[in-house]
Amino acid sequence: MSMPVLEIRGATKAYPGPAGGEPVVVLRGLDLVVAAGEAVAILGPSGSGKSTLLNLAGALDRPTSGAVLLEGRDLASLPDDDLARVRNRSIGFVFQQHHLLPQLTVLENVLLPVLADRAAGLPVDRAMALLDRVGLGPRVGHRPAQLSGGECQRVAVVRALVNTPRLVLADEPTGALDARTAAALGDLLVDLNRAEGVALVTVTHSPALAARMGRRLRLDGGALRPDPDPVT
Ligand SMILES: Nc1ncnc2c1ncn2[C@@H]1O[C@H](COP(=O)(O)OP(=O)(O)OP(=O)(O)O)[C@@H](O)[C@H]1O
Ligand SMILES: [Mg+2]
Repeated sequence: MSMPVLEIRGATKAYPGPAGGEPVVVLRGLDLVVAAGEAVAILGPSGSGKSTLLNLAGALDRPTSGAVLLEGRDLASLPDDDLARVRNRSIGFVFQQHHLLPQLTVLENVLLPVLADRAAGLPVDRAMALLDRVGLGPRVGHRPAQLSGGECQRVAVVRALVNTPRLVLADEPTGALDARTAAALGDLLVDLNRAEGVALVTVTHSPALAARMGRRLRLDGGALRPDPDPVT
């Protein structure tokens, strides 16, 4: 097997508790290996640590103990500047809250990850094609306040893909969408996974989206275990 795109070994994460209180231990020796081009669904109840896990996987936060490797590189060995570069070049994020910048247009929001990396040319054609694909072609000049919640979420998904990343981390990417729009977004993620070999790790409460991922894992008690295949 080629080098995993993501490897998490024995990760624990404890948040400081309220002043004087016990720390909140969220992850307890979690292991996760994602092969290049794989698609993995992460399931689990609210508060189980799914967003915490994605933050570690995406180098937005560091584990309390344990190791996170992206394409074989141990993130603990990288200073914060390099971490930001790895993040911009290799990872696409779809956050639970979409985090679009209100003063930028749809197209500008989508191109933001690339603007930070001046060495690369602006993939405007790719951005436009992806926006068309999710039905936002006529909205590229709008600002987030002029869009619905679901439209903002679609913009956030396109933004995560614009850089042709090797790993996309998505936190409930279809949470705010009706069934049909959710299915279209699921199609886009699955198509790009197949066509470009981008690895996907998707937190979702949607059985339909989970069913389309190659592997399903459940986060419970601070660790992951295989989830039984969904009844379809
Ligand atoms: N910065 C923080 N400081 C302290 N506690 C935190 C922090 N971030 C998260 N937590 C706690 O860690 C636990 C896991 O949070 P997390 O956001 O990872 O859950 P989740 O599985 O994504 O939940 P949801 O499905 O509701 O999004 C929660 O109990 C939360 O209160
Ligand atoms: Mg969450």
